[in-house]
Amino acid sequence: MSHPRPERSLTLPETYAIPRGAPEPVWPDFGDHDEAARRAVAAVAAMLGRPVPERPKEPRSSSEWLALRWDVDESTLVNVSRDMSRTLQRLHAYALQRWVDRHPDDVAVFGPGGAPQRAALDLGDGTSVSVPAVATVLFPAGSAYDTAVAVEVAYRYGTPMITAFTPPGGLALAERVLADLTRTLEADHPYRGGVLSARSGNGTVELTPVRHTVQVRDDVVLPAELWREVDLFCSSVTTRREALRALGHTTSRGLLLAGRPGVGKTKLTRVIATELAGPLTVVLVTAEVLRTWMTELYEEIRGLGPCLVVLEEIDSVASKGSRGDTSFAEFLDALDGTRSSDDVLTLATTNDPDALDPAVKRPGRFDTIIEVPPPDQAGRTEILRLFLPPDAPVDVDLVASYLDGATGADLREVARRSILEHGPDGLTTSRVADVATSGRWKPAPVAGNYL
Ligand SMILES: Nc1ncnc2c1ncn2[C@@H]1O[C@H](COP(=O)(O)OP(=O)(O)OP(=O)(O)O)[C@@H](O)[C@H]1O
Ligand SMILES: [Mg+2]
Repeated sequence: MSHPRPERSLTLPETYAIPRGAPEPVWPDFGDHDEAARRAVAAVAAMLGRPVPERPKEPRSSSEWLALRWDVDESTLVNVSRDMSRTLQRLHAYALQRWVDRHPDDVAVFGPGGAPQRAALDLGDGTSVSVPAVATVLFPAGSAYDTAVAVEVAYRYGTPMITAFTPPGGLALAERVLADLTRTLEADHPYRGGVLSARSGNGTVELTPVRHTVQVRDDVVLPAELWREVDLFCSSVTTRREALRALGHTTSRGLLLAGRPGVGKTKLTRVIATELAGPLTVVLVTAEVLRTWMTELYEEIRGLGPCLVVLEEIDSVASKGSRGDTSFAEFLDALDGTRSSDDVLTLATTNDPDALDPAVKRPGRFDTIIEVPPPDQAGRTEILRLFLPPDAPVDVDLVASYLDGATGADLREVARRSILEHGPDGLTTSRVADVATSGRWKPAPVAGNYL
């Protein structure tokens, strides 16, 4: 197939001017490309001798929509934005929804490109609530405020943000709207009193409610002095809180649990979490947040009320070798930061307190460092009893005497291995003692050098 050469080439004018006397066309809406696109279409339309296609102008942005509603020039609108994490944005949207619920017949809602988008805010107990995700809510004068205001939930270049809009001259009001929204959230925070996981996500910390398995003191066998220290730690924000405050003391406190792997440190933190959740919000911090987002973490938990922050295995950021790392400096800063605020209990664990940088152990960072010891004879007996069937005819005291130095995790494995080898009904003193003394329960090879 041959392509005939064009008879003549067409030269487009550099700029196109509307012919004198021609009616001013009604321009279609070209979004951000408005000016250039208008000119190109006008040029093409004129060449074809047709009218410029007409389309009613739809508002594309919240500010355009509001300018139309308020009958003001878009450039004179006042807007104040606040960047935040996605979690905080969702939570502010939750507060916004409460405002909407208070004025159900008054508000108007706008969503760019059609219906406003909604999303679910997970409440952690298996339920969630629907909140605006990308939307602008307009409260007319006399509803939320005497003056008309609007609140937008949106993303700018991927950053979650909340923006307050007012008609011209309302800067102070716009700022007040944002502050009031935060206050609404903090007055009745849906996450308060829950158990949250602090993970890293979207370039910052995201808090998500998690289901927490209830652990009680009877589930973990520890020396009585250790429980006394735990009680003293907790009392700083519970029974002794008012007394401390009345005397001008901070109620924040830090407790570091040190001990070999498997002695029950994590288990103990879960017992404390169970006891304090409700009056306090519990925040379980992942290793990644510990390394990278400590400053953001303490920002994020503001407004949650009294908190228990659990930092597991701080060796990864705070060992002697980490001095000079930014994460180490940030970690120390964050610990110091809690001291200037009230009602934050920081509970941390480490395997080796001697490996920690002395700066971490300085008084005022962790007020108390306690050693979680491996169980003694009585403790081992009690732990074996926890993990063996209650009616098994086993002299647990005797078995425990063969296991000097074993941790709670070791004892659990002795019990589990015995049950696996002999079945729950086949357990006897000699059989369990045999498992205990053989060392078969240890993960490392028992005998032989395989190299
Ligand atoms: N003192 C104890 N009383 C009862 N059970 C225990 C005790 N210590 C350990 N266990 C059992 O061993 C399991 C593992 O212990 P845990 O994870 O708490 O140890 P850890 O000290 O945190 O160890 P790591 O330093 O390796 O994190 C517990 O879930 C529990 O079943
Ligand atoms: Mg642990």
